[in-house]
Amino acid sequence: MIDYQEILDAIYVKLQKRVDKGKVASYIPELANVPKEKFGIYLNRIKGENFCVGDWDKPFSIQSISKVLSFAMAFARLKNQVFRRLDVEPSGNPFNHLSLLEMENGIPRNPFINSGAIVIADMLVTLLEEPKEEFLQFVRDVTGDQTIQYNIKVAANEAETGFRNYAAANLLKSFDNLENDVERVLDFYFHQCSIEMNCKQLSDAFYLFANRGKCMRGNSQLTLNQVKRINAIMLTCGFYDEAGEFAFEVGLPGKSGVGGGIVALLPNEFTITCWSPGLNEKGNSYLGMLALEEFTTQTNLSIF
Ligand code: DON
Repeated sequence: MIDYQEILDAIYVKLQKRVDKGKVASYIPELANVPKEKFGIYLNRIKGENFCVGDWDKPFSIQSISKVLSFAMAFARLKNQVFRRLDVEPSGNPFNHLSLLEMENGIPRNPFINSGAIVIADMLVTLLEEPKEEFLQFVRDVTGDQTIQYNIKVAANEAETGFRNYAAANLLKSFDNLENDVERVLDFYFHQCSIEMNCKQLSDAFYLFANRGKCMRGNSQLTLNQVKRINAIMLTCGFYDEAGEFAFEVGLPGKSGVGGGIVALLPNEFTITCWSPGLNEKGNSYLGMLALEEFTTQTNLSIF
């Protein structure tokens, strides 16, 4: 029998002592001002038990983790049509890289780099009557928590500093891969990045990807085959140019965000979320990656 609580406690104590906690994202004040010492983990087992340690209940900016949820919503509704406008290959480049998009005629490598998420945002803006409201409702429903909110200030600051996202959206537009106005699509994209959740809420939201499309409460509308594919894209593209390293060290599908969150999962077993706002040079949570590496090593639970 694995003593999950003991393992999480030991990882927490060991990593808390680290002097080097990485660098907090500095491009907007709401991220720059988050104390580096924050650190939480929440494990949600499919069988029903859960375990937590540290700041697991403190909300943080989910940022790019939202890309999995927006992709899931578009994929559930548009099915394989989504792949007419983007690919499913790892980019091997930073999340906001632009030259590949130019070279590949405006077809983003995958839905989890910024340009791919902007194409997904465009699809949702076309598809939904009230895109921001309906997406937030989708996130609340899959999580089973109606309190989840956008942080309007973060969304506004993302817009003020989002020069590379404007560049990506305009490039997509020039290749005829953006149906709506750049401003409208980016407003949706900046809002999705601004959603705040804690480790428990993220573990609950991603439960459906570990549980064959069934949410904590209710159904997601995603088929088992779609869930398999989303997990495959998380494994190969969830950590940008560090996806190989994450698969190598941790061995789970997952997704990171520049707010310092990482959520990962083992199908039929668990979802786990770590939050530590200090990032490594690739923009992934420094302690979060170490914590997950320790967790899968100590429990021997990974997809490999
Ligand atoms: O659009 C951006 O660049 C940020 N709002 C989100 C980037 C992000 O979280 C990348 N993740 N590691």
